[in-house]
Amino acid sequence: MYIMNAVCFIVVVMVISCYGNKTNTQKGSYTLKLENANYEELRSMFMKIKGTGQGMGEHQEKFSAFAVSLTDPKTLGVGQIVKFNKVWTNINKDYHASTGVYTAPIAGVYQFSCSVMTVSSNTLRVSLWKNDTKTVSIFPGNTGHNMGTLNMVLELKKGDKVYIKQGGSDKYIYSESDSNFSMFSGYLIR
Ligand SMILES: *[C@@H]1O[C@H](CO)[C@@H](O)[C@H](O)[C@H]1NC(C)=O
Ligand SMILES: *[C@@H]1O[C@H](CO)[C@@H](O)[C@H](O)[C@H]1NC(C)=O
Ligand SMILES: *[C@@H]1O[C@H](CO)[C@@H](O)[C@H](O)[C@H]1NC(C)=O
Repeated sequence: MYIMNAVCFIVVVMVISCYGNKTNTQKGSYTLKLENANYEELRSMFMKIKGTGQGMGEHQEKFSAFAVSLTDPKTLGVGQIVKFNKVWTNINKDYHASTGVYTAPIAGVYQFSCSVMTVSSNTLRVSLWKNDTKTVSIFPGNTGHNMGTLNMVLELKKGDKVYIKQGGSDKYIYSESDSNFSMFSGYLIR
């Protein structure tokens, strides 16, 4: 139904936005023009019809995404924020490698992921924090190297801080510069 409406709508708009212009040389011949402005409007309307509720013109300009990893194993301090030092992606520069903290640039819904590996036969416990609130944690086992992963969707206000922080007495995080076993990423969904 939406598609039918959209198609009809496009046809109508195209007919409206294509208008004849009598050329100087040939009486009675017409050139068709599709103005850019009309095209943008059309796209905007189309997005609305599709049910996104957001026209292209009003679409939020701001986007934010980051993905970072560790280059070396570390023995974390108690309650230390993990400073993932290798920055792969940092659109809008909201992740700060010097602190390990991601700051939400605008209010919205965000996705975060983290995978960590333990130092062989040692334990590690880390949590995803939102400001002063601990959300979800990973606590991989302690025989050999183990990996743990967390995924989270958070509704954030502008300025909220998100980071990975050590917890309990389990503090041995492993990574290698050529394999990047421990990482953290996030992005604004909308
Ligand atoms: C129609 O064509 C003439 C000559 O090329 C041009 O000067 C005029 O601006 C055009 N009119 C429209 C509405 O595009
Ligand atoms: C989170 O912390 C930031 C920085 O301290 C602050 O601006 C913001 O208001 C806090 N958000 C909540 C929900 O407490
Ligand atoms: C890990 O990151 C390094 C750069 O720090 C890169 O050279 C290497 O190819 C990466 N390894 C893998 C497995 O992606």
